[in-house]
Formats: sequence, structure tokens, C-alpha cells
Amino acid sequence: MAPLDLSGKNALVTGGSSGIGFEVAKALLTLGTHVTITGRDIRRLELARDFLVKDTKRTGVAIVQSDFAELDQVNTLASAISSIDLLINNAGLFRRTKSMTKDGFELQWQVNVLAPMLLIGCLKSMLSQDGRIVNVASQAHTRGVLDLDDLDFSKRSYSGWAAYSQSKLALIMLTRALTNHAGRDAPVIISAHPGLVRTDFARETGWIGLLFNAFKPFYISPRRGAKTILHAAVSPFAAGSHGEYFVRCAPRLPAKTALDDNQCQALLVKVSEQINVPMETWQASPPPA
Ligand SMILES: NC(=O)c1ccc[n+]([C@@H]2O[C@H](COP(=O)([O-])OP(=O)(O)OC[C@H]3O[C@@H](n4cnc5c(N)ncnc54)[C@H](OP(=O)(O)O)[C@@H]3O)[C@@H](O)[C@H]2O)c1
Repeated sequence: MAPLDLSGKNALVTGGSSGIGFEVAKALLTLGTHVTITGRDIRRLELARDFLVKDTKRTGVAIVQSDFAELDQVNTLASAISSIDLLINNAGLFRRTKSMTKDGFELQWQVNVLAPMLLIGCLKSMLSQDGRIVNVASQAHTRGVLDLDDLDFSKRSYSGWAAYSQSKLALIMLTRALTNHAGRDAPVIISAHPGLVRTDFARETGWIGLLFNAFKPFYISPRRGAKTILHAAVSPFAAGSHGEYFVRCAPRLPAKTALDDNQCQALLVKVSEQINVPMETWQASPPPA
């Protein structure tokens, strides 16, 4: 098969300053896409941009600094985007200790769930008809317990792992709920697990970080970790995979809770309230003129 030519397309890769997102951005650039990458730290972003240009010999990279711990910054990021075909919601974090954002949400919930949903809400109407959204989830979701009345762990005792797993379960459920709402004529939205990947993801995370890092030599490279996300984003074979969950470049059934359409819908209603996006936003919108 001839290599894909994505010249003229625009992609936004959140968390493209390192790890899996960096490799996704690199591959998209190589295919001719113009790529915007985001991260919290301007220095890291500049370095990433320089490496991307050097490695791919392409110049179509833009950087936008944005900390998803503030929803205002997510809105500002969205307003900096004028054209989009691929939205890769990759930015994510794990935190061992609980902290609340100034928007009033548990940090992992906000960065891993609310920020990508707000981006989708802001950018959805701009997506081309053959555009795609990929939400980077995790197989950790199978350990997740979603409590709609206690998303921020104020009633349950907090564990970083439980909050992380809940956030990734929620992302898979929301991917399904969005598809149920928008229908199959809307741009494809897919959630994907990259595999266990050798990145700096577990920095600052205590004993879980130690465990993650101890087994790092056995994990796959960030480049291989990017594969399933790229497959979901650009492969013609994934073009009909509305709302599905991908592992190793193929659809996979997620945990049972993620297949419960009533729960998925209830979660979408709750999250829409949290990010102040009306439910009508999720209906299929006419393609941009
Ligand atoms: N590594 C794995 O084994 C694995 C497995 C399953 C799923 N995942 C998922 O894969 C995604 C990428 O992770 P990775 O392994 O590549 O880790 P990583 O190298 O730490 O990359 C995480 C990216 O997210 C950005 N980010 C973190 N906190 C942010 C915040 N508050 N606001 C905005 N951006 C933020 C980081 O930007 P800066 O730090 O530069 O600000 C960085 O670019 C995550 O969603 C993760 O949950 C990873």
C-alpha cells in the first residue's frame, strides 16, 4: 500500500513535549501533517520542537504552552487553533498524592478527563468530516471504579492508582458516549491503550513510580507505543471504528462498565456540567464550510 500522504492536514497532539506524544507528533510530521504540540513547560516544548524539526527535516511544528490544571488555559489553547483534522488527546498524568485544582476538581480527573473533553467541545465543530479524535486511555482502566457521586475521592479514601484508573475508564466511556450522541456520520472518535511504554510518566510518583521504573527495561519504546494511537488516528482500517477501544492496533472490548450505555450517558451529563459545555454540543455538527 502507498504511504499515506497527509499534507495539508492539521493535528493537535497534547502532551507532545515528551514520551508517546512526541513520537506521535514525529510520525504525523513525517506523513506531511502540520502539528501543534502542547505541554506545561516552554523550554521542554522548544527542545521538542527543535528535535522534531531536526529528526524529520520538516518545519510544520507549532508549540503552545498550556497547563491543563487550569481549565482557562485549555480554553486559551483551543482558541489558538484555527484548523484541525486530528485531535490526539494524549496529555496525562499520574499523581500519588491527592491535590485539587483551583477549578475545584481532583487533579488527575481534570488533566486526564475534563481537559480533553473541553478540547473536544471547543474544537469539534472545526473538525473536518474525515477528521478523527483519539483519546489516549490505558489498560489500567480495568481496575477503575467509577463513582459518579464521588469523582474527586472526597468520600472514598484516595489512592493515586484508583484515581488514575477511574480517569482512564471515564475516557473510554466518554468516547463511547460521544459516539452514541453524534452518530456514525460524525468524525470518528477512538480511545486507545499504547501498551506499557518506557517513558518518564512515573516521575514523582513514590512506590508506584519505583515499580514502574524497575520494569522499564521490559516495556516497549515510545515509538512502538505511538503505533496504536497512530493507527487509530490515520489508518484507513480504523475509519469505521466509531467509539471503539484499541489495543495493539486492533479494537478490543474494554471493561464491562465501559459498555454500559446508561452509565456512559450519565457520565457525559456529569462531565458536561463540570466543564460547562451544553449537551447539544455533542450532537453531530455540519461539516465546516
Ligand atoms: N507510559 C505508559 O506505559 C502508558 C501506559 C498507558 C497509558 N499511558 C498514557 O499515555 C499518555 C502519555 O504518557 P507518556 O507515557 O508519554 O508520559 P510523559 O512522557 O510523561 O508524557 C506526558 C505528557 O503529558 C503532558 N502533561 C502532563 N501533565 C500535564 C498538565 N497538567 N497539563 C498539560 N500537559 C500535561 C506532559 O507535558 P510536560 O510534562 O512537558 O508539561 C507530557 O508531554 C498519558 O495519557 C498516559 O496516561 C502511558
